[in-house]
Formats: sequence, structure tokens, C-alpha cells
Amino acid sequence: MSAQKILQSAVEAALSDFDVSNVAPETLQVVAASNPQFGDYQWNGALPLAKALKQKPRDIATRVLERLDVSAISESPEIAGPGFLNFRLKTSWLESALDHARLDDRLGVEKAEHPERFVVDFSSPNVAKPMHVGHIRSTIIGAAIVRMLRFQGHEVVSDNHIGDWGTAFGKIIVGWKSELDEANLAADPIGEMERLYQLINERGKADSSVEDAARLETAKLQAGDEENLAIWRQVRDLSQQQFDQIYARLDVSFDETLGESFYNPRLPGLVDELIERGLARESDGAIAVFSDGQGDPKDDPFLISRDGEWTDFPALIRKSDGAALYATTDLATLEHRIQTWHPDEIVYVTDARQAGHFRQVFAAFRRWMPEEKVRLSHVAFGTILGEDKTPLKTREGGTVKLVALLDEAQERALAVVREKSPDLNEEAAQNIARVVGVSAVKYADLSQNRASDYVFSWDKMLALSGNSAVYLLYAFARVQSIFRRGRERGVDVSVDAPRLVEPAEIELGKCLLRFNEALTASLRDYRLNTMTDYVYELAGAFSAFFRDCPVLTAPDEVRASRLALCDLTARTLQQALLLLGIHTLDQM
Ligand code: ARG
Repeated sequence: MSAQKILQSAVEAALSDFDVSNVAPETLQVVAASNPQFGDYQWNGALPLAKALKQKPRDIATRVLERLDVSAISESPEIAGPGFLNFRLKTSWLESALDHARLDDRLGVEKAEHPERFVVDFSSPNVAKPMHVGHIRSTIIGAAIVRMLRFQGHEVVSDNHIGDWGTAFGKIIVGWKSELDEANLAADPIGEMERLYQLINERGKADSSVEDAARLETAKLQAGDEENLAIWRQVRDLSQQQFDQIYARLDVSFDETLGESFYNPRLPGLVDELIERGLARESDGAIAVFSDGQGDPKDDPFLISRDGEWTDFPALIRKSDGAALYATTDLATLEHRIQTWHPDEIVYVTDARQAGHFRQVFAAFRRWMPEEKVRLSHVAFGTILGEDKTPLKTREGGTVKLVALLDEAQERALAVVREKSPDLNEEAAQNIARVVGVSAVKYADLSQNRASDYVFSWDKMLALSGNSAVYLLYAFARVQSIFRRGRERGVDVSVDAPRLVEPAEIELGKCLLRFNEALTASLRDYRLNTMTDYVYELAGAFSAFFRDCPVLTAPDEVRASRLALCDLTARTLQQALLLLGIHTLDQM
């Protein structure tokens, strides 16, 4: 069990005589110490508890301390300041916990006590368009969430909600029938489909008959016209092939790929049902969900403040021409997921600009199925910015395509690898550059606070020092090389139970044992940068240890203990990076 959990249950046992009913449970948690000066963990709960019970915090802390039994794990806890309890982990406990972790495939990380089922909706690009950098964030963050939840023992259904339906198809079909360039389609399918769409879109702006033709083709497609359906299928399949190439490169896969079209047959009935149930109504010939007038207008996704007045901001679910919308499909998708998988939580990974959409969909869903307990989470992320602080664009001003980005990452990684390891042969260097390039892009993304925009920087991404994938991959390879060098020199590299004597050994040991907590904290609010921060911290603790504590030249017993720390560090780095979707290399 993690140190935090052991201390937490000891504190809870000591609190059994207190009335904690008026105190927010999160304020009664044992947390990592804010400053190592105060020890390793602290409990600040005496303050809120004292407030609720109208007593002095120090008195509460003293009484808790009297009842507290943590002697197996902590030196005698101290009361500090107004009533904080500080804990310092015992070296003997650290040693036995490390020994347990190194003998455990899961490195001491427990599975969730109550495994749950999650649906994670991520990546979800749109057909006939290249995946752009916005989709890369969803793909990278979503895939990491899936891996982490699974590692915790949860059941996860990953679902790629591809945009493969909608009015854009009318334009593509008009273009396909009159302007298709077969050679270009063979060479660059998505490029050709995008060209057709843009061509007809431009013409439509100048000539309303083109718009009408596109609308007619959409209607025919929706009515099941064979010719149009055949074109649609081809567009979808060609797009999927391109997506799959990218997913292979990113090492991402899905359990399900249920595009928007899958839900199409359900949409008319769903809209009718919402009307019948009084949840949606007509407005200017269209059908929409409006505010139900319950609750605070501030929190009502169907209201918007204009000139200081709350005005309707309905969610359209059927246009006046009968077409369904993004929100309609998302409601049908929710219904399908609940009926099929009965999940405890559904997670949507998209950019923050869709926050309003999801608030409306979630609110409409709660009114539609009030008895459903499923948790709905929108994991929103910010925009990737260029050096000029505006959304990242190519030099020509176009949107940056994912393939081009990955190619450039790999090319730049090759230059770094060649410089750092000039002796590698061409094939090995290429191979390393491939891993480093993808890892650099993934890590740069995951190490950001996902909610904020961030400036894309090749230099930072491929830096050999600092919080980058390159630094961490080298750190891992360096640990591995200790064993290799030992063997080459005929040193005995067997490992044994770790003994912590030097301060740097103790620090490294503590850091290794925080993996579990880092994972829990990363998933609490899907803040994956908590995990990247942890990996970076671990690499730092290891390099301090390696600087202060000789390994291969140490006497036998000390060496076996230090090699055990090296081994556990390597495996923890490897596992943590893998959860982030990053594969390590033994040699670089
Ligand atoms: N296709 C959408 C886009 O590219 C993302 C879909 C996200 N998932 C969902 N259930 N709405 O913006």
C-alpha cells in the first residue's frame, strides 16, 4: 500500500471519535508535504475540523496524535504551526516497501479497489480532411488516459467517434461526380477529397445553384441513394486508411470505431422522442432544446448573457430542412454507449472550444434520462500555438498536418541522435530517431497543463536537458548501460534488497515509491502532466544518486543494493513512460 494510503487510514482510525460530518472529506486527507523541511507527508485536517467543532486546532491535533499509531511507517509525528501533523517516513519502512516493489511486476502499484468501466471517446477526426494538430492532442491525451485507467485495473472501451456524416458530403459528392482527378486520388486521397470540397465550397459562395446541387446530393445520400452511398463509402474507407497509418505511427488503437453515421438511423426518432417528452420544441422551423428555467442562469448551458440580460441559447437538434446536428448525434451516441456497455463514466477528449457543446449535451441528457448515474467528463485541452502566439500554422499560413509534423519531428530527432551518438550506424540512428521523434511530440503535449494553450517549440521538444522526452529516454538508457558496462567488465551485477544509507539513496527511494500516488493524482482530474512531472523528478533523483553514490565500484553488498535501486528506477521510468505512450530504448 502507498505511504499516503497507510497514513490516511491511520489518521481515519484516530478520527473515529470525532464528528467529521460537517467537514469536507478532501480537507481531511494526508497529502505530500509542501516543503521537504516538514517531512514527507502532512495532515492539515485539524484546522477545518477545529472550525467545525469550534475548538482549537492544536488541541485537535494533540488528541489525534495521542490516538494515532503510525510507528511502523513514520518517525514520531510532530505538530507544527497552528496544528499541522508532519510525518517523516522511516528508512526501515522505505526499504521494505522498495523490496516489495522491485519484486512486483506492477512495481508496487495496486489495482483499483473498485474497478469500473469507462468509455473513452478520443481522436475522432473527420473524414475527407487531413488530421490536424488539434486531433493530435486528443489522440495523445486520450490514448494515455486509456493506458493509465487500464493499468489501474479498470475496464476501458476506447471509441473513435469519427466525423463521417453531415452536410459537407453533398459538396464532396458534387465534386466527385464532376471534377474528380483519379490520378490525384490515387496519389493523395485525402488531398484530393479536400480539394473537391474546397472547390465546390468556393463555387457555392458565388453561385447558389451549386449550393442547391450540394444540398440535393446530401438529401439523396441520406435517403439511401446507391450511387451517393458508394461514393460516401469510398471517401470513408480512403480516409480511414490514412488515419490508420497515423495511428500505427503513434502506436494507438481503438476497441471501436463507431462514426457519426452509425447513429444516423436513430436520429429522427430521438428528436421526436425529445419533442414528445417536452424536452425539445420548435423554434423558427427548427427543433431545439431550451433552458428548463431550473437553477442558476450562470450554470445554465442554454442561456447566454447579452448586454446584462439572460437570453436563450438553445441547442439545435434538427434544422428546418430536417437535417440533424452534432448535438443530436452525441445524444444518440450516449444512449448507445449506455445501453451497450453500461459504463460508470464516459470521457470525451476534445479541444476546449467544444466545452459549450458538451455542457449542453450533458444537460439535455440528464433531463432525458434522469435516472442514469453515469459520470460524464469533458477532458478539454487548449490550442497549440506557434512562436507568434497564434494557433500553429505552416509557413504558408495553412493548418499544420499531422503527418508533416511527425515527419519533421523524426528528421530533427535524427540530427540530435547523430550529434549525440556519432558512432551509430545509419539503420540504428534511423530507428532511434523514429522513436525519439514521436516520443518528443507526445511528451511535449502531455507535459503541458492540458487546459492551457501552449507554444510549440522544436528546440524545447528535442532538448537534451530539461523536461523533454529526449532527456528522459537518455536517462533510461543511461541506467540500462550501468548493467551492460558491469557485465562487460566482469563485475557481478546481481541485485539484492535495497539498503538506504546516503541521503541521495533515501531521496531516490522515496521518489520511486511515489509512482502509485502520481498515477492516482494524474487520473483524478485527467491532469497527465502530473505523470510527466513525476518522471522528470525521478530522472533527477536518479542522477543525484548516481552522482553521489558509486555503483559498479562499490563493495559487493552495497553494489547489489544500489543496483536494485538502478533496476527499479529503470523499470519505473519505463512503465511510467509507457503509460504516456512512449517506448524506451535500451541503447541510444
Ligand atoms: N469530430 C469532432 C472534431 O473533429 C470531434 C468529436 C468528439 N467526440 C464527440 N462525441 N463529439 O471536432
